[in-house]
Amino acid sequence: MERSKHKALVLESGLLLLLLFLVLEVRAQSLPPAEMDGFVYRNSGVSSDTIIIEAFYDPLCPDSRDSWPPLKQALQYYGSRAWLVVHLLPLPYHDNAFVASRALHIATSLNASATYPLLEHFFKYQEKFYNAQTRNLSRACIVDEIARFATEVVGSSYYSTFNSGFNDTKTDLKTRVSFEYSTSRGVSGTPFFFVNGFLLPGGGSAIDFNGWRKIIDPLIAAHGPKSQDSQHFL
Ligand SMILES: *[C@@H]1O[C@H](CO)[C@@H](O)[C@H](O)[C@H]1NC(C)=O
Ligand SMILES: *[C@@H]1O[C@H](CO)[C@@H](O)[C@H](O)[C@H]1NC(C)=O
Ligand SMILES: *[C@@H]1O[C@H](CO)[C@@H](O)[C@H](O)[C@H]1NC(C)=O
Repeated sequence: MERSKHKALVLESGLLLLLLFLVLEVRAQSLPPAEMDGFVYRNSGVSSDTIIIEAFYDPLCPDSRDSWPPLKQALQYYGSRAWLVVHLLPLPYHDNAFVASRALHIATSLNASATYPLLEHFFKYQEKFYNAQTRNLSRACIVDEIARFATEVVGSSYYSTFNSGFNDTKTDLKTRVSFEYSTSRGVSGTPFFFVNGFLLPGGGSAIDFNGWRKIIDPLIAAHGPKSQDSQHFL
């Protein structure tokens, strides 16, 4: 009697441990992700005196669109002294933002050099996918249209692969990770910018080229002449 009770208890705690393990396993598959979220703009190295810019964008957000050309100009101006990573935050009130963001993840997995051209393509024609313009379209129709739209940039031979990318739960998960990463940084709108890890004021609106100069020039001046022994950590 006592013995079987003990056995049952052991069995029960074993099951509990297994359950706990399974729960942790499921969680571990999503967070933290196997690779850091975000699209790196240029594969230049990062050293201790590189200015790190993080931009949080929604591909269907007009303010994100307006903020990209001056930021791109600043990146050209600063060259290897600045480094950018873009994180996506599909905003819930932009009906097609999640599909568009997922398209950027699919595109990156198919043709890594198409990420930024596709982001620019979305910015250029984003009105097509606004709420009012797509209110009569089914979700399947929108997914198909976005696959067509994206493969104009990624390569038309990818059309069917691209479409099945929308059936792959991995691309859904990646887009959710982007969302969760953005919210974990306290980002609630787009565009939001962080420089060297700190949030710039005025989140949700664009910064013009002179604005970027005012932010970055003093940081670069503070470094003094480029040191020879600056540590490379990426
Ligand atoms: C990948 O995308 C780039 C940028 O749009 C494009 O120039 C290139 O042709 C694409 N590669 C293939 C194999 O389609
Ligand atoms: C959506 O359908 C309604 C009703 O048929 C029509 O009045 C409206 O113009 C349509 N809107 C668009 C954007 O196609
Ligand atoms: C994706 O899944 C839907 C529904 O399960 C199916 O109708 C469609 O053919 C699939 N598309 C691709 C490209 O695999």
